[in-house]
Formats: sequence, C-alpha cells, structure tokens
Amino acid sequence: MNLGPFHWLPSAPLQPLALDWLSRAGVEVAVLRLDRIDPLISGNKWFKLAPHLAAAGEAGARGIISLGGAHSNHLHALAAAGKRFGFATVGLLRGHPQDTPTVLDLQGFGMQLHWLGYGGYRARHEPGFWQPWQAQYPELFPVAEGGGGLLGATGCMPLVKQVRSQLNALGWDDYHGWWLAAGTGTTLAGLVLGEGGARPVYGALAVPDDHGVAQQVAAIVREAGLQDGGYELFDSSRGGFAKVDPLLLAFIEESERHSGIPLEPLYTGKALLALKQQVEAGRFAAGSRLVFVHTGGLQGRRGFAAPAQP
Ligand SMILES: Cc1ncc(COP(=O)(O)O)c(C=O)c1O
Repeated sequence: MNLGPFHWLPSAPLQPLALDWLSRAGVEVAVLRLDRIDPLISGNKWFKLAPHLAAAGEAGARGIISLGGAHSNHLHALAAAGKRFGFATVGLLRGHPQDTPTVLDLQGFGMQLHWLGYGGYRARHEPGFWQPWQAQYPELFPVAEGGGGLLGATGCMPLVKQVRSQLNALGWDDYHGWWLAAGTGTTLAGLVLGEGGARPVYGALAVPDDHGVAQQVAAIVREAGLQDGGYELFDSSRGGFAKVDPLLLAFIEESERHSGIPLEPLYTGKALLALKQQVEAGRFAAGSRLVFVHTGGLQGRRGFAAPAQP
C-alpha cells in the first residue's frame, strides 16, 4: 500500500494583484496562487485531500473512491495523485459517459470510472449510498464529493500560515480578510478554523444559496468546537453553478490581460467578479488589504471554450 507523502505540503506564492478598479477604491489585494503549486495536483485540492489520504492510510486502504462531474477538478487531482504516488483510484461520475478533456485525463491517469446517471448521482447523500461500492471495492476508502467535511477543512488550515509568512515580502504588515470561491465551503471553513476569528473570510458562492453551503460551513466550524461566525457568503453563482454569461467572460479576459493571472469561469472568475462588485459598492474601506485565494481549476476550463454546459 502506498498512499503518498502526506507530509508534502506544497507552498503557494502570494502575489500582488494590480487592477484599475482596486486602485480606484484604494483596496489592495494579493493572490495566493494555489494554481501554481503543482502542474497536476493543483489548487485547493491537495490541501483538502491530504487528511483524507492520511485517514485512508491509517485505515489500511489501498486507494480512494470518490465522486464528481465530467469536469471535476477534484477527481482530476485525485487521479493524478493516485498515478504519481501509486495508489488505486475509482471515480463515480455524474451523468452518462462522455469524453471531456477531464474524463480522458482521468482514464489516462488510470482511474477506474463508473457513470451513475443523474438520478444515481443525486442519491449520493442518501444513507446506504456507499454500501454497494464498499462491497465492490472493500480496499478503497470513500471520500465525499470535493474532499469535503471537517477532514478536508483541516487540510486547508495551513494556508493561513503560508500567507502570514509571506506578508513581509509583499510589504504588508497585516491583512484584513480573505476572499475566495466556495463550492462546498470546505476550503473557506478551513480558513475560518485557521484564523480562529482573527480575520473574516468572505466566500463567493459558485453555487446558488439552496445548495446548503452556509449549513455545511456552520456544521464544520461547530464540529471543530468553534463558535459559528467569522465568515460571510455572497451568492456569486450568476444564475447557477457552471452558468456562464458574456459579461463574466469579458471580465475574465480583461482581468487576465491586465494581471497576467489565468482564471476559469466556474470559480475563480466568478469570485473575482463578485469581489469587484463588492469593492465598487463600497464594502471595503480604502486601505483594506485582502488575500484572494486562487483555488485552481484551470484544467476544467478546457471544457468551456463554448458557452455554458448543464
Ligand atoms: C477551482 C475550484 N475552486 C473552488 C472550489 C470550491 O472549493 P470548496 O468546495 O472547498 O468550497 C472548487 C471545488 O469545489 C474548485 O474546483
């Protein structure tokens, strides 16, 4: 059994973000480039996965079984980690078989795939969902969608230290909060735990309010023994998860051109656009310093050359 080097804690550079709408408002933003930590195991994924892999190793598992869609950044990172570190991976996919660039990579990395259809995938939260899969793959450790839960959140806590250790190099003596995309809210919850209430964490929701992110974050924070609070969520989904509109695409194109930082439309692009809207609405006083977490996901944008997918 080889479940990889859990001590591998990649470090991400913190870079200033120069955009005209920020300078007009006197707000400073630095980007924590999780997209730069590794060519394949990119973004917030490794941080969320590492504690799951450690738990799997302790349980004597031979690999990991997890879930995601046909563009899933989570499955992509998991499959790449399995290939690199030599553990087995199985992916349960939403919908019906299709050859997206992500799916082709998953197969190339050696992940065994099962397509659950849409109804079958919706059943993932039902009790007993994992039973047949665990019967079929008794040596694999199940990881919830997106590497979530308290386990996944604890893996993101070290990001706080990573940022604090780079403030000097940036010429900052402090910062006033975090801004990042939220899908399940696990990464955000990890930052809330890491800050312990010292600084607020602002989450730009990539999914609509009814996806229960607020409840999931609250549950993680309470399970960790902290009082709920220290964060704020903004619906930034622009009509639904993976819905893409011309204003968003134009904003991404312009931001990339001026900042040199690549974005994708589902998470990081929507998160930065939501930040612009809040900055322009006067949500942050001049002199505010924010850390924007680039949560990665750039592999997924290969599926988005054309307009939105379902
Ligand atoms: C690129 C990217 N950013 C942000 C997120 C959201 O992270 P979380 O689920 O921890 O809120 C995800 C996946 O869920 C993602 O793939």
